[in-house]
Amino acid sequence: MSSLTNEPEPVVSDVARERVLVLDFGSQYAQLIARRVREQNVFCEIVRHNISVEQIRQHDPRGLILSGGPSSVYDQDSLQCSPGLFEMGIPVLGICYGMQLACDALGGEVRSTEAREYGRARLRIAGDDQLFAGVPGEMDVWMSHGDQVSNVSDDFIALARTESCPFAAVRHRELPVFGLQFHPEVTHTPQGGKLLENFLLSVCNCAGTWRLTDFAEQTIEEIRRQVGQDHVICGLSGGVDSAVTAALLSRAIGDQLSCILVDNGLLRKNEQSAVIEAFQDHFKVTLRVIDAEDRFLKALEGVKDPQQKRKIIGHEFIECFNDEAQLIEGVRFLAQGTLYPDVIESGAAQDGPAATIKLHHNVGGLPEKLGFELVEPLRDLFKDEVRRLGLELGLPPELIWRHPFPGPGLAVRCLGAVSRDRLDVLRDADQIVVEEIKEAGLYEKTAQAFAVLLPVQSVGVMGDSRTYEDAITIRCVDSDDFMTADWTHLPYELLARMSTRIINEVKGVNRVCYDISSKPPATIEWE
Ligand code: XMP
Repeated sequence: MSSLTNEPEPVVSDVARERVLVLDFGSQYAQLIARRVREQNVFCEIVRHNISVEQIRQHDPRGLILSGGPSSVYDQDSLQCSPGLFEMGIPVLGICYGMQLACDALGGEVRSTEAREYGRARLRIAGDDQLFAGVPGEMDVWMSHGDQVSNVSDDFIALARTESCPFAAVRHRELPVFGLQFHPEVTHTPQGGKLLENFLLSVCNCAGTWRLTDFAEQTIEEIRRQVGQDHVICGLSGGVDSAVTAALLSRAIGDQLSCILVDNGLLRKNEQSAVIEAFQDHFKVTLRVIDAEDRFLKALEGVKDPQQKRKIIGHEFIECFNDEAQLIEGVRFLAQGTLYPDVIESGAAQDGPAATIKLHHNVGGLPEKLGFELVEPLRDLFKDEVRRLGLELGLPPELIWRHPFPGPGLAVRCLGAVSRDRLDVLRDADQIVVEEIKEAGLYEKTAQAFAVLLPVQSVGVMGDSRTYEDAITIRCVDSDDFMTADWTHLPYELLARMSTRIINEVKGVNRVCYDISSKPPATIEWE
């Protein structure tokens, strides 16, 4: 844990004047809380649990939300907040562990419950309170705790109870401090959005006027201020984040922006032309397409080891990009599509237990030491907000809803050694998988769907002759965060169509399998 004295000064961006802070105590739900707050049109940031009172003041928040967390307030090394936080006069909402912390700090008693409570519970509300305005007197809520508040000081009022939890919701008599033992941020608490709305709009007096369009306008102004008359380069990958970054920059600085697309020969079918169409033709952005297929395939020749492939591709990409960037005169800035979750993972919550869960595959990106200053216009946004912004900026929906694609591209889906011919087989099969899943209306409901070319051949029969050809595996998964995933239970008829089409239309394939492994223990990609 970092000490408070060593904490860097917070960078308080000017994007939103009205903001709420979520103090992260290691909850798996901290990001979800932040998103729910933004859904109420209130800007929200996640900060470390031990942020100092002084730093909170610098953020000038309208409210503070203390997240849940895995600790017990009585553990010796439990995560604590600054004690002065409750006396600041800023409304506080403690959720689960956050509530226990607040009650403990203000004279209550927290005990480990005999039966840990996980799952749905029936909440009964006692009397009127602005936090529960507009919700029924009884409702389902989602519990997930080992400890609970067993006794509150006279300074607290119990607002609601469940059968096994006498203090399921509380408020302080004098201070604007509220606590919920259950989780209002999860969908299993159907009225949770209303409770958060009440806290934000009634208790914190937020106006709820934060809108993505305002965000876009403010960000465009900020980009103009930051960049001045200088030149910016931006790498396009075909993915959403770089596309939206480029679209925003193009709006902000027009032809001071040059985009670079490194075609490494490992892209999906028609990916290059989709990027050219969107950016060169539609946005009129200066786009430099580097045809680097030969260079990459040569470097990958005979390489079978997945990590070795990643290393080679990462290295070649940086070289290619840098070589091209040097040809553009007067470049001072590099634009990157860094998103808010990346910022929290590497910044605000880096010492928090939740942050250690996610492990990034940082392949296919650029190192920071290229010597350019960074422009990162999406660093305050979540992925779904980036998508919405992209649509508002006029990017084509197909590009916005495209499934994520690994930096090393088809190289990690073409198992064993990579060659142009094998990549062509894979591209054609992959195209059929995507076409069919779109046709079935399932593309946006699944997290990733693609084909994998296996390094095995098997015997088949076509017409009267025996074949000995490649096998394709279809991989399709449902996932929220790509850290865990379940294989999608695709309809048999759809699988049958994919299989028939691949075997009939893709020369060199005589067998199609469906991957029915979840993550863990398997991964989404095969390499
Ligand atoms: P796995 O295969 O580990 O993948 O379950 C999780 C998510 O990460 C993507 N992925 C990568 N992305 N470079 C990337 O930029 C990589 O080397 C890489 N490997 C996997 C994968 O597509 C999935 O979305």
